[in-house]
Amino acid sequence: MSNPTTSAADFLPAHRSLSALREAASACRGCALYQDATQTVFGEGRRDARAVFIGEQPGDEEDLAGRPFVGPAGRLLDRAMAEAGIDRKAAYITNAVKHFKWEPRGKRRIHKKPQDREIKACKPWLVNEIELIRPQVVVCLGVTAATAAFGKAVRLKDYRGHFVQTPLSDATFVTTHPSALLRLPDEELRQLEYRRFVEDLRLVQSRLA
Ligand code: URA
Ligand code: SF4
Repeated sequence: MSNPTTSAADFLPAHRSLSALREAASACRGCALYQDATQTVFGEGRRDARAVFIGEQPGDEEDLAGRPFVGPAGRLLDRAMAEAGIDRKAAYITNAVKHFKWEPRGKRRIHKKPQDREIKACKPWLVNEIELIRPQVVVCLGVTAATAAFGKAVRLKDYRGHFVQTPLSDATFVTTHPSALLRLPDEELRQLEYRRFVEDLRLVQSRLA
């Protein structure tokens, strides 16, 4: 049974290293989301990464692979990072919520937005990842990641494209989520918004350079 008052904090290991956190997170039951997911998808990347990228939650492919951003959104992110001159292998990539939340539609599993209480329950993993890595920049991809970073609901347009101080990092950068680009119905608009996303990532790259 899941107890709604628990959070990931109840599952943190005594010794805090990335591998110990990853191991502990694989058994997390800090909210109900573990019940319908295949596995925990923990962050991935270098311990000495200068930039941490935070997505929302794993998608269908990530849930099956056990790795963040390996599906369609991840491929778009790869392409945009490469265009902006950011080496994905030199970054650390994670999610605000570490289990895939979904609902069935026919035979497919459709992404379902995590609630604020799930973002909050999962936040101890994120906080500890960032405390260990101490990156120069934390990049929030979309509103769920930004909500986790600010510790409150925020609107993308209020912060997009700027470095701001949050409880998570002195240099928190907010931009759109690659999945939001994939959902745009119009090809022309999609191109335009993709360019804007790459421009945002270039600002991150200049800050790192
Ligand atoms: N979308 C996310 O926010 N994270 C992933 O890992 C994949 C898709
Ligand atoms: Fe734990 Fe986060 Fe998974 Fe909830 S979503 S069970 S808090 S790892």
